[in-house]
Amino acid sequence: MSSFFITTPIYYVNDKPHIGTSYTTIACDILARYHKLKGEDIFFLTGTDEHGQKVEKAAINESIKTISFVDKMSQYFKDLIPFLGCEINDFIRTTEKRHITASQHLWNKIFENNQIYLSNYEGWYSVRDEAFYTESEIIKKNNNFFAPSGSPVEWVKEESYFFKLSEWQDRLIEYYENNPTAISPKSRYNEVLSFIKGGLKDLSISRTTFNWGIPVPNNAKHVMYVWIDALCNYLTAIEYPDTNSAKFKKFWPGIHIIGKDILRFHAVYWPAFLMAADLDPPKNIFAHGWWTNEGQKISKSLGNVIDPYDIINEYGLDQIRYFLFREVPFGNDGDFSKKSISQRVNADLSNNYGNLIQRIFSFVKKNCDSVISNNFTLNKEDEKILNESIICYQKYINHMDNMNIDKALKEVFQFLSEINIYVDKQEPWSLKKTDKKRMNVVLSVSAELIKRSTILLYPIIPSSCEKVFSIIKIDKTNINLNDFEKLPNQKILINDPFPIFPRIEIDD
Ligand code: MSP
Repeated sequence: MSSFFITTPIYYVNDKPHIGTSYTTIACDILARYHKLKGEDIFFLTGTDEHGQKVEKAAINESIKTISFVDKMSQYFKDLIPFLGCEINDFIRTTEKRHITASQHLWNKIFENNQIYLSNYEGWYSVRDEAFYTESEIIKKNNNFFAPSGSPVEWVKEESYFFKLSEWQDRLIEYYENNPTAISPKSRYNEVLSFIKGGLKDLSISRTTFNWGIPVPNNAKHVMYVWIDALCNYLTAIEYPDTNSAKFKKFWPGIHIIGKDILRFHAVYWPAFLMAADLDPPKNIFAHGWWTNEGQKISKSLGNVIDPYDIINEYGLDQIRYFLFREVPFGNDGDFSKKSISQRVNADLSNNYGNLIQRIFSFVKKNCDSVISNNFTLNKEDEKILNESIICYQKYINHMDNMNIDKALKEVFQFLSEINIYVDKQEPWSLKKTDKKRMNVVLSVSAELIKRSTILLYPIIPSSCEKVFSIIKIDKTNINLNDFEKLPNQKILINDPFPIFPRIEIDD
């Protein structure tokens, strides 16, 4: 059985989850569910990033002991997962013992391979980004200094261990030139490659001016730089340092889904750390874009942070999942606007998909004693539309395999429009008076097409699809994308249909 290991970034616990972090988690859930439907063995990992100065400062601001603060904040992220409709396999916290062991082992391995040395760091650091910046990257405004991300930076001077990143430049270039699909989308691949070609400097990987972190082995004056600790989570969860464990062998290397802001850490530092520890680099890194809110950057100071609980309670879980992944090509930036959500939901989910479900199953209930006969004595029109479902399926697979979730959804919704046209043309309501046998064929084909579309939508809007499956009595645990073309050979006594996607009233 092939395996699929997918990870979200682990989220900083200095603040509560918001729509940006929820987006990454839902993206991974969609891809994990899709690969599960293909019959693969899935491992979907998420968790929280709990060390570092940024988190420590947030705890100090609340006047709480740091450990109590991170316990409380991490729980918010954990509790949110089922609310987002996500099914994970593990939730990792960087303060767990298993992770401290794994991180120290990784450090030792890189140290033994002579890739770490002790020196002094003097330069710019941004606590908000938890990142070091070079002089040439810094922007000066009114006597204050900022990183390219807009975060304030401070000058730090301390003893520090360094990782010999500069020695990995050629290996990284060679690796990426031989693996052009290792970073997606393509524009991000090009960005990383040109950054590496621009020259890599050794990287400071320990701090001494605070102690909220994992102690460096054999020198407890230092704590590890939060990013080396954080990145190691992907290994901890699959039982590193036991590289002979069944889990590790099955799942490494994995696929990391991240936001574009943390690409450098994942696509430059991480593969170098891994290679320096004699491990394979990740299979793929996909960097998605950022959401704005009604055209504005989302930020705490602007007071426009979108709470996932509020927005899902207002519009519905699958409505939001659908909107996030249909509205904007996965990989691009997108704007979150209430008007666009309403328009998307009404046009696609209510009018197209929902209406099709409602009219076919209500008709079956009213005119066929709730029985779909599953008579497939097909004419040319029926064959044509069934054949189109297979073309839609093939395109969908191709898009989903390449993480083009928006394109996959577009195909399915175009096909749903075709099904609606087929029903309009076949007029089962007229056939009821003239040719009942033919009417039953049309209803059998329509129900089968609804089932097929629903299977394709299942990874994206699972709870609504389960409602459709419950009407046509499909056991969700038996669904496999490989059986897509199999026609049912028994009658189905359906459950009563009910509206699944109510229309949203739009205020002018
Ligand atoms: N802790 C690090 C990741 C360590 S992974 C080894 C981190 N955490 S974070 O909580 O700040 O961000 C997590 C993710 O949320 C990032 O992928 C980031 O891109 C994403 N987003 C934060 N705000 C976002 C938007 N407004 N829109 C889309 N995604 C955004 O970075």
